[in-house]
Amino acid sequence: MAYWKFIYDVMRIDIITCLPKLLESPFNQSIVKRAVDKGLVEVEIHDLRNYSTNKHRSVDDYAYGGGAGMVLMIEPIAKCIDSLKKERDYQEIIFLTPDGIKFSQKMANELSLFTNIILLCGHYKGVDERVREQYITREISIGDYVLSGGELPAAVVADAIIRLIPGVLNDETSALTDSYQDDLLAPPVYTRPASYKGLKVPEILLSGNDRLIENWRHKKALEKTKQRRPDLIP
Ligand code: ADE
Repeated sequence: MAYWKFIYDVMRIDIITCLPKLLESPFNQSIVKRAVDKGLVEVEIHDLRNYSTNKHRSVDDYAYGGGAGMVLMIEPIAKCIDSLKKERDYQEIIFLTPDGIKFSQKMANELSLFTNIILLCGHYKGVDERVREQYITREISIGDYVLSGGELPAAVVADAIIRLIPGVLNDETSALTDSYQDDLLAPPVYTRPASYKGLKVPEILLSGNDRLIENWRHKKALEKTKQRRPDLIP
């Protein structure tokens, strides 16, 4: 067993959804899969239908007062969350919803320090408000647009968190040099060949002079940020 298991509590992310198949692929590829395989994070997906209280396994119903769209019922969600809470303490129970607080790198950094979190995926017209009042500690939106459910947002949030867990990225500094980590967008990067059909890699990157390269990268990051996201510059 790797030594860090003795030092850190392994982070656990429980995702509650009525469309579990939608979440299979994001956790079975690349960096996230490696993190799970290495035992640096546990991701469990819970099918809300398994907690349904009726024989049709339904988890939604019409909205009181009328109106289009179905609403996720409180009972299956409560049953699922209560059973998880019996197993361990959760620092956050997060609901993915377009009317939540906008997700950011800062929030990802903060959530990556927690040990156990639940992500609840909304669907249809939303979720019974009593779930939000009784169980949810934080509501997150991944942007000002409406998706058909919270599954893709949950995958986005989980991915952003998991790549920050120590040991997940091979090069520890690479998460620190991401766009947004220092409120700047990332500078351009190049790889071989140094010249492609006359398109040349900037000379300075081939110079081997770390200090000059660092200055160049900072300058380019600043230029790009000023041009695309001036709101990030104080
Ligand atoms: N569910 C639907 N759209 C969403 C969004 N933009 N963010 C989070 N959850 C959502």
